[in-house]
Amino acid sequence: MIARVANGSRRVAITGLGTYAPERVLTNDDLARMVDTTDEWIVERTGIRERRIAEPAQAASDVALPAARGALERAGIAPAEVDLLIVATATPDMFFPATASLVAGELGAENAAAYDLSAGCTGFVYALAQAYAAVAGGLFEKVLVVGSETLSKITNWHDRSTCILFGDGAGAVVLEAVPEGGFLGFELGSDGSGGADLCLPGGGSRAPVTEQTISQELHFITMNGPEIFRFATRVMVRSAEALLAACGLTIDDVDLYVPHQANKRIIDHAAKDLGLPPEKVMVNIDRYGNTSSASIPLALVDAIDHGRVQPGDLILLVGFGAGMTAASAIIRWGGGSR
Ligand code: ACO
Repeated sequence: MIARVANGSRRVAITGLGTYAPERVLTNDDLARMVDTTDEWIVERTGIRERRIAEPAQAASDVALPAARGALERAGIAPAEVDLLIVATATPDMFFPATASLVAGELGAENAAAYDLSAGCTGFVYALAQAYAAVAGGLFEKVLVVGSETLSKITNWHDRSTCILFGDGAGAVVLEAVPEGGFLGFELGSDGSGGADLCLPGGGSRAPVTEQTISQELHFITMNGPEIFRFATRVMVRSAEALLAACGLTIDDVDLYVPHQANKRIIDHAAKDLGLPPEKVMVNIDRYGNTSSASIPLALVDAIDHGRVQPGDLILLVGFGAGMTAASAIIRWGGGSR
């Protein structure tokens, strides 16, 4: 775990954002008709009230597209101007080709290099760091970063300990060089010893699909909930504090905290340990559940659309997820951000 100050030769900022959530809403009461659970239990233990579910024909690239188009429109750039497209996802359309290539093809981003990034729910912040470095180093000018998930496709809808948590959606941002502000630093970490605590065991080279992997339900998310809870509360604080220190900032400098939306209790724990008052914490897990790599952009755009972000504000993003991985980013909003 190493915190890095964003001291590349160019300042880099988010210049456009877009989101998309599938239309179908699945409420806690709907879930209570599918598994042995209640709205009360889910709200109290997770803060989730409803989540969006993709249609059977909608894959990650389909969910990504409207978000990507929205971000390009808000940035005022044409698809052909994008020179790098990164899709962070744990639920790609296929192993290959990369979902990013499919999105680029549908968008008409014909001049873009395109690849997927796999870092679980931390993927979006990892992708921001790569996009930052790509622009700050001068290799790329206009980078589109998308977090897109169709977790409903790998969720075991008979397992009440996991199916209550996840939802589908996408968020996208454009990164460009700006005169001032933008990203101030990143902290990225990974601890493979926790890999088994959150995984999709079947379908990869470790356990290729067979009748046996299907009958053992290895094609669904497997999760050690309490262990992830402990990891998350610990690492979300450590990552944020390391990054703030590296940037010469304190928690009091932060105007808005946008954490990965995995569980409201995890967010509350982390915010309390960091010393952040509730009014500085962005929470929208009640409406979307855990959308993995889409959760931070969905929350950031919600905050902006509700007037919670002003030019000059300091925004702290913190994610964690499969790997186990964790990452933080600090942004000075403004200077070209829109
Ligand atoms: N409805 C009712 N009861 C339930 C449900 C449910 N949906 N799920 C579990 N229970 C029961 C359990 O069976 C258990 O019963 P028992 O005491 O009789 O054995 C009891 O509730 C307590 O179970 P715990 O697992 O200890 O419940 P906990 O308070 O830890 O909450 C939860 C479970 C919500 C999964 C929590 O551990 C959590 O959120 N962990 C983090 C999960 C997470 O963030 N995953 C993804 C992170 S990374 C990424 O985003 C991909």
